[in-house]
Parts: sequence; structure tokens; C-alpha cells
Amino acid sequence: MPEKVQIRAIKGVRDILPPESGRWIRVEDAARKVFGTYGFGEIRLPEFERARLFERTVGNDTDIVTKELFTWIDSPKANRALKHIRAEAGKDAGKEIDPRLHIEEGLLREFEDGAFDSLHEQTRVCLRPEATASVVRAYIEHGMHTLPGDVKLYYMGPMFRRERPQKGRYRQFYQIGAEVLGQSDAPGIDAELIEMLFAFFGRVGLEGLSLDLNSIGCKDCRGKYVEVLRAELVKVKEKLGADSQRRIETNPLRVLDSKAPDEQAIIETLPRISDHLCEACKTHFAEVRRQLDLRGITYNLNWRLVRGLDYYMRTTFEIIAPGLGSQNAVCGGGRYDGLVELLGGLPTKGIGFAIGEDRLMLSLEAAGKLAVEPAVDAFIVWMGAATQATAIKIAQRLRGAGIKVELPPEEFKFKKALGLADKLGARYAILIGENEIAAGKFTLKRLADAVQTSVTEVELIEALKAN
Ligand code: HAM
Repeated sequence: MPEKVQIRAIKGVRDILPPESGRWIRVEDAARKVFGTYGFGEIRLPEFERARLFERTVGNDTDIVTKELFTWIDSPKANRALKHIRAEAGKDAGKEIDPRLHIEEGLLREFEDGAFDSLHEQTRVCLRPEATASVVRAYIEHGMHTLPGDVKLYYMGPMFRRERPQKGRYRQFYQIGAEVLGQSDAPGIDAELIEMLFAFFGRVGLEGLSLDLNSIGCKDCRGKYVEVLRAELVKVKEKLGADSQRRIETNPLRVLDSKAPDEQAIIETLPRISDHLCEACKTHFAEVRRQLDLRGITYNLNWRLVRGLDYYMRTTFEIIAPGLGSQNAVCGGGRYDGLVELLGGLPTKGIGFAIGEDRLMLSLEAAGKLAVEPAVDAFIVWMGAATQATAIKIAQRLRGAGIKVELPPEEFKFKKALGLADKLGARYAILIGENEIAAGKFTLKRLADAVQTSVTEVELIEALKAN
């Protein structure tokens, strides 16, 4: 007998079961409806892409790329060559070689002159950690710049980051995101996108949100600011932790993101980007704020909001939701003019956001906003073999009318059937016995108060639809 092993889901991933999955579907439907009214269409993207797509856009120095990508080499040939190289390296180091690794002598010769590097590079793929880079890739690949007006796209689906799992942080998580790409960077686009977000959150009933807003300038003014910041950071280097010390060199802006308690007082004394924006960025940001005011949207200016991905410029924002503990950002986004060009497209402006759907669901749950829809509207209790045919027919008609029906596949004792109907949370039982067949009617029993009525088929459908 083979040993019995229970295989469990991998750490950081989850199953979403009914009835919870039904709530996710309702939230996703709400996003589709609201985003549709703002002229957005759904784009369905692949869940794996070339790793260098994210290395080039999200950035080689970011946590997402350095620590969190799930990558593999999607070429048996490149994998064999890689094993061979490792085996050779082992041999050089005087190590015993696993014979399974030592394969295909001569394969290396095929990859001389860097050919291996390029094959390796081309065939290294990863599970997507986010979808903005994919949207931009698709925008270029399908020549969407020729479409009229701004291209407005939304997406939903799983993203993958090898993060340390905790409440609200998973290795496979779900995002609902939207992007606007086109020739204009009018601040009205930024504000309307944020308005759409709040319309969506309103539709799903999420309250108590706060919007953090910042502008991180453009390549020019940010570049200058980063140098000013770096110079100040060098002066306080000794007081900072190892992570921040390293970032002084690699990416000083990320120091502003630090949550380390003893660094907070120091960070508060650092120069702020708002004092270093160029005239064009200053004007853009002032107009974004005015456009938000026009829409009645309130925000907190947060000069430390730099976001953890490299492609942003000018407007950045995050939405903080209640009930989430430390992982409380339910949405993040910003402007990324220049990203299309970086991936080989024409000069294009872009802005977007992604909502963390897992966190959205947690926050709705904490607020008691997850209404439980009954899984069953009506449970059919049929008694006597002669009644089954009628039961099957009425079940088909009710389901055709969109009513959720549970039909026992075999005859159950009356008490057992009603007990099960109750446990399943059915609102009604439809009783079909010989008396009902003879009268051409059904007995409809409301389970909450046991009120029974005798109804025709038409009345039955009407009564169930009305509830
Ligand atoms: P992000 O801030 O990396 O931005 O992610 C957006 C949201 O996804 C976060 O605010 C959070 O709610 C959720 N999220 C991120 N990581 C996890 C995780 N490990 N577990 C659960 N939820 C998570 C982006 O991804 C950008 N692509 C957003 C964007 C779109 N910017 C412009 N367009």
C-alpha cells in the first residue's frame, strides 16, 4: 500500500470557496459595471511573461524583482545547458558530479560566444507580479496607439510575489486594476481615474477610506531631488538601519518608505520632493488637486508616498482601508509617462491603479459588509416515486427563471429533506406529494416561519422571483 500523504496548498496561497467566492464575483461584477460606465474595456492578459519585462519596468533594484519573482527557464535546451555548466563548474571545483547532471557533452560548444546568455535571457519567464507592464507590452504589441482617444483598459486576476505571508499579504493574490494610455497627461485624467475608484468602492459599500496623494516629479526634477536627498542621508547614515543604509546608494527614495520606528524622526527632517518639483510638475500637481476638489474628493498630501515600483513619475496615490492591520493599502497607483517608450513604443502618457482584491474583501468583512446570499432559494421535497417527474420538470423551470433550486437525487424521508433544506439555508421548501399531483398545485413552505400556501406553477415562479 502506498503511504498516505496529505498534500496541502503551498504557504501563501489560498483556496477561495463558496459562498466566499460568490462575494468575490459580486465585487468583480461591480468593478466591470462601474469601469464600463467610464469607458473602460476588459483586457485579459497572460499570467506569465518574460522576466525581463518586469526587470526593465518595475525595476531591477526593487524588492518585487530582486526577491519576489517566481522565475524559471522555459527551454529544455537551455535548462540542459545550464545543468551542464553547473556540472562542469563542480568538476573544476573537484566536486563529485551527479551523473544525472552531467549530460550532453558538447552542448556548451553550441552556446559559445554568449549565445547561451541570450537563449537564457529569452527563455527566462516568470509569473507576473503585477499587470501594468503587461498592459503596456500589449498596448505596443497590438498597435493600440492608433485607436481613437485614450485607451482605457481594466483587468482582474492573480498576481504572484514571493513575499513573507501574513494577514493581507499572500504569494498569490488578486488585483483589479485599470490603466489609461494615450497622448494626454491632462490632470483631469488622474482625477477622473481616482473618482472612478471611489465610485467602485461606493458601489461595493467600502467606507472610511483615505486617499494619500503625492507627486514624485519627472525624470529631471526627481533626479535632482534624489541627489539632494542622498546628500542629506549620507549625513545621517550612522543613525539608519542596514536596509536604509544600503538604499542610500541603490535607491534613496525608498528610504522614505521605511517603517522602522527609530528612523521615523530622522526621515521627518529630510528634504521634501514638493520643495524640489520643477515648474511643469508643480503646475501639474496643483491642477490634479484642483480637479479632485471639483469632484469633491478629499485627500491627504503624503510627501513620503514614493511607491515600490520604478516606473512612476508625477502623480502617485494609495488608498488606505480600515480593518486591515499593517497591510492596509487597498489600492496603489500613479502616473507612468515614458513607460511605453521604455518598452520600445512611441512617446505615450499613462496612469493607472491596482486594487488588492484580497484586502478589499478583508476590509469589507471587517466592516460587516459581506451580505450572505442564500445558496438555495427553494428545496424541493418530493414524496413517492410518481412525483419525481413533476419535481424534475418544476426544478428545470425554476432554474430557467434564475431561481436557485436544490433537488434531491433520490427520495428522502420528509423530515430528513426538510432538515437538509434548513441546514442549507433554503428560504423555501416546495412540497410535492400525491395530493399536490392530484390537485395540480404545489405546497410552498416558507422555512423562516413555516407558513404554507397552495400555489399553481405560475404563482410558484412569481412568489420565488419576488423574494
Ligand atoms: P502595488 O502597490 O504593488 O501596485 O499593488 C497594488 C495593490 O495590490 C496593493 O495596494 C495591495 O492592495 C495589493 N497587493 C500587493 N501585494 C500584495 C500581496 N502580496 N498580497 C495581497 N495584496 C497585495 C501595482 O501592482 C501597480 N501595478 C499598480 C498600478 C497600476 N500602477 C499603475 N497602474
